[in-house]
Amino acid sequence: MRTAILELLKHNEGHYISGEELSHTLNVSRTAVWKHIRALKQDGYEIEAHPRLGYALRQNTDRLLPDEIKAHLTSRMLGQEIHYFPEVDSTNNEAKKLAANGCPEGTIVVAESQATGRGRLARGWFSPFGKGIWFSVVLRPPFGPMDAAKCTLMAAVGVNRAINRVTGVGCGIKWPNDILWNGRKVVGILTEMSAEMDAINYVVIGMGINANMKEFPSEIAATATSLALATGQTVSRVILLAEILAELENVYTLVQQAGFESVFAAWRQESITLGRQVRVQGFQRNFSGLAVDIDADGALLIKTAQGVERVLAGDVSI
Ligand code: BTN
Repeated sequence: MRTAILELLKHNEGHYISGEELSHTLNVSRTAVWKHIRALKQDGYEIEAHPRLGYALRQNTDRLLPDEIKAHLTSRMLGQEIHYFPEVDSTNNEAKKLAANGCPEGTIVVAESQATGRGRLARGWFSPFGKGIWFSVVLRPPFGPMDAAKCTLMAAVGVNRAINRVTGVGCGIKWPNDILWNGRKVVGILTEMSAEMDAINYVVIGMGINANMKEFPSEIAATATSLALATGQTVSRVILLAEILAELENVYTLVQQAGFESVFAAWRQESITLGRQVRVQGFQRNFSGLAVDIDADGALLIKTAQGVERVLAGDVSI
């Protein structure tokens, strides 16, 4: 009913429809119409109510509501099932629960804010209400567990392309999957999986996109930025999310058809790590060297005085 009322309001864009007409067309009471209108307003739709003229939609919501996302979706699998939360602990946690309970591949969890958003290496992730895109997608790839780490490089290529297409901002990928603009982080990706010895049950790819923040907490103020700061304009989160899902689906399909190398070529081109002196904070030791390439596993190859080191996990600063 809510969707039907919204469709009629959108169809009449800016013009009033009387409560009587809505109730007559949809065969519900005027009180029911009023309750749905109140719920729509709570969801961020700006609806003007006039005692004699009825209701008019003045401004669409800027929330990441499933119906709004679906109106822009071009992907066939990703985002067909959407779980929306005004607030959640972490979209990755929700997605993992859904995945363990057998949700279809491509299911996404999206939130306006996260109370305990999680980053790589047990860090937190700043996720204020309505400012970014905090979402996770469930994949069930037909690969072995060894291939899961490569999914994060694949995801970085997809999101970087979508950002470029929608906003025109040219970001770079810092190994393995941070998206940076002007040396500051715009996107972080956290990939988690459940697997048996020889098969993946599911992979959850969680993305945090700093879309419209204007300021950051002091701890990250020097290292983070947003697409709004990069472009000087507010970014439509709904359009960007739909494009990210489309591009992610493209790279995921390509990987399944032609292998990871087909996407690694794009990763190399968009990388801001390769060709640079980097410092690695590994689990066991720290060292510096020249980042020369990634190998077939997505590991970063670093030339040092001792030879070429392979880094599969850890923190790399450029
Ligand atoms: C990083 O450390 O760079 C990765 C950050 C990943 C943040 C995203 S926001 C949506 C999803 N849910 C989480 O708790 N984390 C990821």
